[in-house]
Amino acid sequence: MSAVPADATPNGAADGIAAAAPASGEPTLLGIIGGTGPAGAALAARLADIGCEVTLGSRSKYRSMEVVDNILDRWPERDLRIHPGANSLAAQKPTVVIATPWDAAAITARDVAEHLRGKVVATMSNALARVDDEFVPLIPPRGSVAASVQATLPESRVAAALQHVPATELGNLDEPVHGDILICSDHREATWHIAEIVDRMPGARALDCGNLSNATAIEAFTAVLMQLNTRYRTRVALRLVGLDHVPISVLGGGPGSADAAPPVAETVPD
Ligand SMILES: NC(=O)c1ccc[n+]([C@@H]2O[C@H](COP(=O)([O-])OP(=O)(O)OC[C@H]3O[C@@H](n4cnc5c(N)ncnc54)[C@H](OP(=O)(O)O)[C@@H]3O)[C@@H](O)[C@H]2O)c1
Repeated sequence: MSAVPADATPNGAADGIAAAAPASGEPTLLGIIGGTGPAGAALAARLADIGCEVTLGSRSKYRSMEVVDNILDRWPERDLRIHPGANSLAAQKPTVVIATPWDAAAITARDVAEHLRGKVVATMSNALARVDDEFVPLIPPRGSVAASVQATLPESRVAAALQHVPATELGNLDEPVHGDILICSDHREATWHIAEIVDRMPGARALDCGNLSNATAIEAFTAVLMQLNTRYRTRVALRLVGLDHVPISVLGGGPGSADAAPPVAETVPD
């Protein structure tokens, strides 16, 4: 599956989107805002392992340097291209992921908005709270973290992705990712772009889940998964059934998805 619509220019620009896909043979360049936490650091390691070049952003360049050193020390035999930097440097990369806590995502995006104009911006944050021994979803402004960020960045193409994959599994490069990665966006080329990157991760299957309004359900469902982890003392991964016969290129939509399978039926569970 290619990430870029068929009428894209060679550097990946199409329909006003800033260049996101590199020329063939070049590494995909990504920046992670809030990359020093477990989620961002694990994602940086996994992305670098599939050949991306990653800038791991932080509010503190020194914290970023320390986290990058830790990743490289853990995987000395792998050729991981991960660079430390401020969040503003990460935001200058062609594709950007926001991995801050949920209540910092939109504010942090606003701080670097000038760099994010026209780009695909993925959010992986979940609005959750722990109440006694239960995880409960919170409803952020506009219904989801991703929608809050999209409202803050009207000139960017925001996609919600990677909410459900635990950092421990994401960052263990000796094992495949094992799971479905649900992606939604109001900009289908943003979904395709993130899906193309996700599909390069061993074991991961990117699924196009429609418009950004579905980020409300995707983010909130993380509370269910975390509750299962607590209840059964494990770390669950999401794997949906009923899709195994569909080629991956159709799942992600992809360019000119005229060849994508038409919807079979519009059923709403009772
Ligand atoms: N952990 C997981 O397994 C996992 C998996 C999937 C999705 N997620 C989601 O990904 C998000 C990040 O998870 P995490 O566990 O990595 O979170 P975290 O460690 O709490 O935060 C990540 C980074 O965000 C930055 N940050 C913290 N507070 C901030 C603020 N007020 N303003 C700006 N930046 C701030 C910090 O970096 P600096 O101090 O260096 O700037 C921190 O290292 C969460 O919303 C979580 O739900 C987590």
